[in-house]
Amino acid sequence: MESTRNKLIDLLAKDKDTYISGQMLSEHLGISRSAVWKHMKNLEKDGYQIEGKSNKGYRIISFPDKLSENTIKWGLNTSWLGSKIIHKESTPSTQVIAHQLAQEGSPHGTIVLADEQTSGRGRLNREWFSSKGKGIWMSIILRPEILPYLAPQLTLLTATVLAEVVQKNTTVTPMIKWPNDILINKKKTAGILTEMQAEQDQIQYVIIGIGMNINQTKEDIPIEIQSKATSLRVESSEKHSIKQFIHLILEEFEKAYDSYLINGFPEVKKKWERYGFKIGESISITTLRDQFQAIFSGIAEDGALLVKQKDGEIKKLYSAEIEW
Ligand code: BTN
Repeated sequence: MESTRNKLIDLLAKDKDTYISGQMLSEHLGISRSAVWKHMKNLEKDGYQIEGKSNKGYRIISFPDKLSENTIKWGLNTSWLGSKIIHKESTPSTQVIAHQLAQEGSPHGTIVLADEQTSGRGRLNREWFSSKGKGIWMSIILRPEILPYLAPQLTLLTATVLAEVVQKNTTVTPMIKWPNDILINKKKTAGILTEMQAEQDQIQYVIIGIGMNINQTKEDIPIEIQSKATSLRVESSEKHSIKQFIHLILEEFEKAYDSYLINGFPEVKKKWERYGFKIGESISITTLRDQFQAIFSGIAEDGALLVKQKDGEIKKLYSAEIEW
């Protein structure tokens, strides 16, 4: 059951410019006015900034930087993404919770976030390190009305969203390494794991898992991956607000997704290729049958890698080992 405290925050968070009187709060919550006052004092202790005016009432001026369903909702400028938010301090993996919720019918746009994941997972069943309070560990439930074979386009779209957010809000320059790793100075700072439940011609749901290293110091990054992995903090020498980054990602994602549904994939492809790592350069490719050098020329509509061979022929590759 929702706690009185959460109900109180919800009421105050509805409109940040409106004061709500102690009388109204006490009636809505079914508690005395002195209990309302005590709740306010406790919220202040937890980092909420609350203004109380004698003839107007109370309003929240700012939320603490800590993550919670309420603090994420506050100031989030989206219309459908994040309409339902689940936050866990610690969980094995937000992907697992998102699958459960999706199967139970949670709506399009539900997001699951954690401060820490104890068994975070990446692509190809790799482990994903998700240390407490240092990054964004988030899964988004989508119910897109597109054909299942188009779902990989959503992964490419997510990569462009992450790249745009980093580009617009930090001093560093992101690149996207095929298929969807976000690099800064050639080291990985974010990854995307897309999982889908679908019938032949209909998607039930897609879960987009986003892992982004934000505030790790070099020492926080496990030694065995230090040569390939980094964080925004290491590369920009600045700490960032995780909550603010979540807002930026969700807002950019909603815009990109809505525009994708109207305008289709070409815009996403153009953006992806703008950030594409080594586009136009020679890369070394190993497939099951072959090993060869070719020019990385971009991505296809279905997310495949397009390479131009020596004889000028363009080849589409879905799985290959690539030496960058
Ligand atoms: C990759 O690059 O291999 C993808 C990494 C995806 C990690 C995120 S963190 C949130 C969500 N929960 C998980 O267990 N994995 C994804």
